[in-house]
Amino acid sequence: MARHLLSLAPLSRDEILELLDIALLYKSLRARGVRRTRELEGRSVAMIFEKPSTRTRASFAVAVYEMGGLPVVYSRDELQLSRGEPIKDTARVLSRYHDAIAARVYRHEELEELAAYSSVPVVNLLSDRFHPLQALADYMTILEKLGRLERVKLAFVGDGRDNVFQSLAIAGLKLGVEVRVACPGPYAPDTRELERLAGEVRGVLKVYEDPVAAVEGVDVIYTDVIVSMGQESEREQRLRAFLPRYRVTRELLEAAGGDVIFMHCLPARRGEEVEEEVLEGDRSVVFDQAENRLHTAKAVLAMLLKS
Ligand code: CP
Ligand code: NVA
Repeated sequence: MARHLLSLAPLSRDEILELLDIALLYKSLRARGVRRTRELEGRSVAMIFEKPSTRTRASFAVAVYEMGGLPVVYSRDELQLSRGEPIKDTARVLSRYHDAIAARVYRHEELEELAAYSSVPVVNLLSDRFHPLQALADYMTILEKLGRLERVKLAFVGDGRDNVFQSLAIAGLKLGVEVRVACPGPYAPDTRELERLAGEVRGVLKVYEDPVAAVEGVDVIYTDVIVSMGQESEREQRLRAFLPRYRVTRELLEAAGGDVIFMHCLPARRGEEVEEEVLEGDRSVVFDQAENRLHTAKAVLAMLLKS
């Protein structure tokens, strides 16, 4: 049976660590000039996008190509899906041609339906609930920068129900990370549900309203946009709830103390969730995170398409 990657919840801590090891190996190979490997030779991967993407689209397509396979990118608008063909039919048709189907969707349930009807692995390229590939690249970056994951303290400043945060929290709990989130009360995460999804809980999840208290003594400050794709109608209400208190500023970095690093999945809205000088400052590792999307994509493809 095909093994899918819709979220990091079903993966064990050891499987996540193994993926990070493989990603580090791909990175070191590429640094030595070895780009082309052959794991996906003769195979093709469908990539479906319902929403825009720069990093995910580019990194995943290049990963497939460099591993010897053919990435075929479809925007939803150019598929019959946009004229009402059911997902379950799309899944069964694409499975007859492709060796994996990756998709970025508005509603996570659509990915679940795709996976239920697909005979090949399905990969989540971001849904309203999770962004598993982003969290893998993020923990790879933390491992590179800090040399460890266990007992790392990470404070996410922003929406506790954000898709990027959900995946960071699930993986962090498995990996022994102290995950903190600073958000207005109504945007607090469902901590019980995140712990249930993580299954093996070696880390801890703490919710704060005060961002200054949340960042005290942390190794990593992370933020994401206040208005995610699909939430545009809530824009005014969200900006009112989060700004200016939940913006990552130089003062907030200083409040963390020590050698805190700044992370953001990108794209960023400068002046909203983060100040320009933080994003461009010497603590920022955002472009290393973006680069690591390529290496972790390769690790995921190698795991799912192991022959
Ligand atoms: N971080 C991320 O997923 O970026 P894109 O939306 O550009 O793919
Ligand atoms: N939370 C953001 C992440 C973009 C990579 C969104 O869903 O738009």
